[in-house]
Amino acid sequence: MRHKVIAGNWKMHKNAAETTTFLNDLVNNMPTGKEVEVMVAPAFTNLMLATQILEDTNITVAAQNMHQAEGGAFTGEISADMLKSVGVETVILGHSERRQYFKETPALLANKVDTALRHKMRVIFCVGEELKDRKSKQFQNVVFYQLKDSLFHLPKEAWENIIIAYEPVWAIGTGETATPEQAQEMHQFIREQIAHHYGSLANNVTILYGGSVKPDNAQTIFSQPDVDGGLIGGAALNTTDFTAIINAI
Ligand code: G3H
Repeated sequence: MRHKVIAGNWKMHKNAAETTTFLNDLVNNMPTGKEVEVMVAPAFTNLMLATQILEDTNITVAAQNMHQAEGGAFTGEISADMLKSVGVETVILGHSERRQYFKETPALLANKVDTALRHKMRVIFCVGEELKDRKSKQFQNVVFYQLKDSLFHLPKEAWENIIIAYEPVWAIGTGETATPEQAQEMHQFIREQIAHHYGSLANNVTILYGGSVKPDNAQTIFSQPDVDGGLIGGAALNTTDFTAIINAI
């Protein structure tokens, strides 16, 4: 069901002690009276710690990746079953850093999505164009194929468990953010493409924006009609900025 979400993707930051400090601080300073799902995505090594610290709260814990196989000889990898066994029900897939540095392809991502859904997990699926695509006005085309190649094989029911995160690659960690109009234009486009393939369920899909969201720009981005929240990187690493962003929704 479509709802507001603020998710912090910690990437390869925070050891166990830092995770504990951050989460205790977040729990103690959580904004109240907000209709929003707050989520954190720590490193694999800290997921169990996070689910334990957050056990009695409404803050959810997501993984940043997972392997597509059920198990087997895949040194260094983590399965859906392993995530679920430590209380993690949500996984980020298709982040541009996974596509760029770990060569994750649309076909592989389709496979990962299928595995996650088979395990009744929720997927935050990331899409977004590079700067060259924006300059050549191919940005909608690129995002369309990212959706089509990894998600449009799914049956209608599956969309209950899909959240989309639009993250223009040129805005990630650069301090340069999409304008509210650029974000809205793409979010609306994404919703239209889902509607084109699946009909009215598109109105129930949560679509997040990610890319240099900070306390001072969050409110204007979140006020756009098709923006349902944010996937936050750098500003999710300290509780002052993260709670300010939660307050901006
Ligand atoms: O997953 C989060 C995004 O990559 C955004 O990162 O807020 O540091 O630009 P950023």
